[in-house]
Amino acid sequence: MEKLMIAGGRPLRGTVQISGAKNSAIALLPAAILAETEVILDNLPQLSDVAVYTHILEELGAKVEWSDNQIKIDPSDIKSIPMPNGPVKKLRASYYMMGALLGRFGEAVIGLPGGCNFEPRPIDQHIKGFEALGATVTNEHGAIHLHAKRLRGARIYLDVSSVGATINIMLAAARAEGATVIENAAKEPEIIDVATLLNAMGASIKGAGTETIRIEGVKEMHGCRHSIIPDRIQAGTYMIAAAATRGDVLIDNVIPKHLEALTAKLIEMGVQVEELDESIRVIGADSYGHVDVKALVYPGFPTDLQSPMTSLLTQCKGVSVLSDFVYSNRFKHVPELARMGAKIRVEGRSAVIEGGPLNAAKVSASDLRAGAALVIAGLTVPEGVTEVTGVEYIDRGYDHLVTNLRSLGADVWRQTE
Ligand code: EPU
Repeated sequence: MEKLMIAGGRPLRGTVQISGAKNSAIALLPAAILAETEVILDNLPQLSDVAVYTHILEELGAKVEWSDNQIKIDPSDIKSIPMPNGPVKKLRASYYMMGALLGRFGEAVIGLPGGCNFEPRPIDQHIKGFEALGATVTNEHGAIHLHAKRLRGARIYLDVSSVGATINIMLAAARAEGATVIENAAKEPEIIDVATLLNAMGASIKGAGTETIRIEGVKEMHGCRHSIIPDRIQAGTYMIAAAATRGDVLIDNVIPKHLEALTAKLIEMGVQVEELDESIRVIGADSYGHVDVKALVYPGFPTDLQSPMTSLLTQCKGVSVLSDFVYSNRFKHVPELARMGAKIRVEGRSAVIEGGPLNAAKVSASDLRAGAALVIAGLTVPEGVTEVTGVEYIDRGYDHLVTNLRSLGADVWRQTE
């Protein structure tokens, strides 16, 4: 078992390069299934979730060449092989195989997705979308069976503006007959990234990034080359870590607009933030005022930064309230932070955080962002070594985390037991 060891108390200083976005990459990889010829993705992050997805594509018959930050996917020999078990169970985003295989072959069998299980994460809106397009969807022993003689465009109103459902319906509808309209669509930047790739592959998608997306189905789609957008959550995590350690970090290869909600909150609490063209500089201060944070759908404060932000709020004077309106119970990091001396109580959808120093402890990451929160907390502790287990979760979403933190001056290392 691997652990992350953190001897904190050192301000982070220097420059960190942000990789391509995980939550884009794991939708763009299955999107390649819809093409008849080779798709090349640049700025691919090196993450365990990407490796699992690559493996799934190979099992379906794709030829995949992955070197450093580029992947070439030749989908010409792909078949819709049933995948009730195996690697699809390892990650949440395997649900995109449903939309992609349904869109290309009219059928798919995919085991219900795994991934970070911080709370039940239903896929009813995905299924509602597939059914509206004319597919029959059944759940047989934990695997979703999808079948459609032909997919026909439809008007679909999402009850919740779900990122996954929006992308999955775009995938299935891209090659359907006629027009599909998704209302109350999610507006996250990753959705625009997927629509950009699909359009470069020959699809006709308008309105991605707004709440109404129109898809005119096309008969065929072809390969293309596409560069993945920077990972705004990874960038936000380093911004928070820079503030928490009272450091001075230039976060490079980002789209500052994607981070506006976080930037505004950091400034409100007393952090100095400078937005440049493709980078953001975060300069910490000796003391911070308390703030209230509400995690919402984009362009609100991202739920994926809620856990890391909890750690930063322990460093503020007074009481801060952090509420999550996307997930009702994403607070598994709270008892672990309490082991480190944090004074936090959870009330319904909110964590009430009383600022104060933390101490080193042995803690466990139960999901990706909870892991990031514990690492940030450890970085603030000047004495002792914080040990974080559950590193496999952190590896799902943070490309070269230890190398990056060390290059910023942190005393962090991996230890195998
Ligand atoms: N929801 C439903 N029914 C559905 C789909 C979603 O009720 O059919 C609910 C969820 O339970 C949740 C809300 O809608 O309360 C939003 O969920 P969404 O579908 O938007 O989330 P997702 O697509 O499953 C993606 C990211 C998450 C990120 C959320 C929200 C991927 C693979 N995952 O999940 O990322 O938290 O959007 O932005 O893209 C992470 O990176 O750590 C992570 C969990």
